Amino acid sequence: MDLRLSFCGVEFPDPFTLAASPSTGTGEMVERAFDAGWSSAVLKTMAVEREEVNLVYPMIVGLDHEGERLLGMENIDLISDRPLKEWEQDIERLKKRYPKNVVIASIMASSKEDWQEAARRVEGAGADMIECSFSCPHGMPERGMGSVIGQNAELTERTASWVKQAVKIPVVIKLTPNVTDIVDIARAVKRSGADGVCAINTVKALVGIDIETMKVIPSVAGLSTYGGYSGPPIKPIALKCVAEIAKNVEIDISGVGGVTTWQDAVEFMLAGARNVQLCTAVMKWGYSIIEDLIDGLSYYLESKGMTSPEGLVGKSLPNITRHEELSRDYRVVAHIDEEICLRDGRCYVACRDGGHQAIKVSEDRLPHIDEDRCVGCGLCVSVCPVRGCLTLRER
Ligand SMILES: Cc1cc2nc3c(=O)[nH]c(=O)nc-3n(C[C@H](O)[C@H](O)[C@H](O)COP(=O)(O)O)c2cc1C
Repeated sequence: MDLRLSFCGVEFPDPFTLAASPSTGTGEMVERAFDAGWSSAVLKTMAVEREEVNLVYPMIVGLDHEGERLLGMENIDLISDRPLKEWEQDIERLKKRYPKNVVIASIMASSKEDWQEAARRVEGAGADMIECSFSCPHGMPERGMGSVIGQNAELTERTASWVKQAVKIPVVIKLTPNVTDIVDIARAVKRSGADGVCAINTVKALVGIDIETMKVIPSVAGLSTYGGYSGPPIKPIALKCVAEIAKNVEIDISGVGGVTTWQDAVEFMLAGARNVQLCTAVMKWGYSIIEDLIDGLSYYLESKGMTSPEGLVGKSLPNITRHEELSRDYRVVAHIDEEICLRDGRCYVACRDGGHQAIKVSEDRLPHIDEDRCVGCGLCVSVCPVRGCLTLRER
């Protein structure tokens, strides 16, 4: 299957891109990723040498939930602490060895001069595209960088236009979800003349407190700070940001946030993304997940009779509207497949204490729907441990 998809005028061999992260922290790592099948990568965010970067450890902590390890992840990582000179050499080598692959340099700076110098240097080294991080929620904002730019439309427009003026290659602005209205910021990017947006960077968070020691995690010699949350729990936030931007601003979008499977990636494309990036999933499972992503998307497109991912982009957007516009006449009712019901009572308890008391349980523990009481809210379908056992049917 031909999975090529253009993004900001650059043809990507497939829509999957490694996001700026520790997985793209050196040229050697990106080479291994390319050898494993990735065809594009955003290099870990870099800055000019004047910008001193001092990292802290530990910088990563997982959110465990009901036995599942690393459901989500918080980090207090900063940008790369490697000199831009080394990155320039890495970019040159990557482009020489993998001329068909797309190399995107992620940059960050604290002044017009530094933005433009970083942009010119990575362009000179051969980068195909620049991604500007206006979005890191921790550490960098204290120094006037990262999400303080992406949280202000005026700063976003001004800074993006500096970078755009400095180079000829396409410029993408990476946005933060930690704003009241991401559409406002995407409009500012459009006004700046930049070519696209990447949504989203991590969600500002505090993942937990060790109740034995009462220390916040990750604990750096007893102290911690708010970090950036990533992984599957932020997917709904990212998907919403992508859809909102796609519905309101005519600009190319790279979707990122919680993508783990090809199905997640398809959802981002249906919501309007022309490119999909992955970070946490790769950090957890390794570069080899690219094989499943490519195979899965290929089979999916074939099953839909499609010959390119192009047809997916934005296809679900007409199905999103204002709450006011939703039908008040549509009526559904819950239905239980008795054959596969585990009779564990979860639907009964949820409906009793969080719904409309529409489920009764008989002596053999089999739940029954009281159709007169059921409003079709969907709670029982969501709590049932067996997918397909409880469904909603149109009345
Ligand atoms: C440890 C870590 C380091 C990251 N470093 C960067 C970075 O240097 N630049 C950047 O733009 N985003 C960075 N990100 C954000 C990711 O690129 C991505 O936007 C975010 O993690 C959401 O995607 P995910 O849920 O697939 O991880 C980092 C994320 C993590 C977890």
